[in-house]
Amino acid sequence: MTREDIDRILAELGKLVCKTQKDIEDARIAFLGKKGSVTALFDEFRTMDKEFKKEFGKPLNELKNTVQSKIDELKSTISESAAASAPKQDLSMPGDNFELGSRHPVSIVRQEIVDIFRKFGYDVAEGPEIEDDYHVFEALNFPPNHPARDMQDTFFVSAGHLNPILLRTHTSSVQVRSMESMGLPIRVICPGRVFRNEAISARAHCIFHQVEGLYIDENVTFADLKQALLLFAREMFGPDTQIRMRPSYFPFTEPSTEVDVSCNICHGKGCNICKGTGWLEILGAGMVDPNVLEASGIDSKKYSGFAFGMGLERIAMLKWQVNDLRHYFENDMRFLKEFDSAPEV
Ligand code: DAH
Repeated sequence: MTREDIDRILAELGKLVCKTQKDIEDARIAFLGKKGSVTALFDEFRTMDKEFKKEFGKPLNELKNTVQSKIDELKSTISESAAASAPKQDLSMPGDNFELGSRHPVSIVRQEIVDIFRKFGYDVAEGPEIEDDYHVFEALNFPPNHPARDMQDTFFVSAGHLNPILLRTHTSSVQVRSMESMGLPIRVICPGRVFRNEAISARAHCIFHQVEGLYIDENVTFADLKQALLLFAREMFGPDTQIRMRPSYFPFTEPSTEVDVSCNICHGKGCNICKGTGWLEILGAGMVDPNVLEASGIDSKKYSGFAFGMGLERIAMLKWQVNDLRHYFENDMRFLKEFDSAPEV
């Protein structure tokens, strides 16, 4: 080994040009790898006698450090220029907007009703929309020729046999399914979609939603019904709300009643929403007819119960003064977006 060997390597290092990380790695191997030129000098150094070692120890170590720093320097400049030419990312840029949906007014009302009755200890039950005549009519004490069974009202899926398949016309069918499947006492509400063969207009639709309620236990009385509905009305429409019961008729309840709440718009003075009466009709109710209990195998001497049913579109109409039922089904975003944060009237 001579001084020239070291100078030659330094000169090569001075001329070194690297464009990529691979060029740098190749250069590192050429100088410092197992068979590299600097490594070869170190191999030779090991075989030298003491005199020579004294002379070459320091410059050889300096050579190695110089080569190593040059390689490190080349590495950092190349990664800097790679970063500089990479596409710029603005991490503070806001993301793409996506529109949040809003809840349908019927869903909002259904949830409110379910929440109120849950507080009173009611469970939620659901039943099929495609039902049979037995659960929609027969078990609910509808006489065979009752007009509700008529084609004018009911959509039949398959008629012409003893127990026709049809789209349920009310959620009262879930009363029957609950009595069949649940143990006593029963306390359920049953929200769901119902179907009637109606011409579509501002005041009628062939699809709408109801919530049915059923409470069966020993010693359930009409007073319990009245109290449950009064509490419900006050939770739903405000603490000053009054209810009024008018005698009515349903095949599955005896006695039956239609229930009005005091108009929460004019507070009883009379307005165009309550048509000047001060009252708004919201539901039908009554004591479960003993025939209905017996049809589902419940001893009507031991047990009694009450039931009620209400239309969700109607309640939403009263709550937000929607004047046309068709809005609920047309999926017009301008209508649908009004409700989630809409103030109650
Ligand atoms: N099913 C009735 C209807 O669709 C509503 C109803 C009335 C349900 C009285 C009841 C009830 O449970 O007791 O018009």
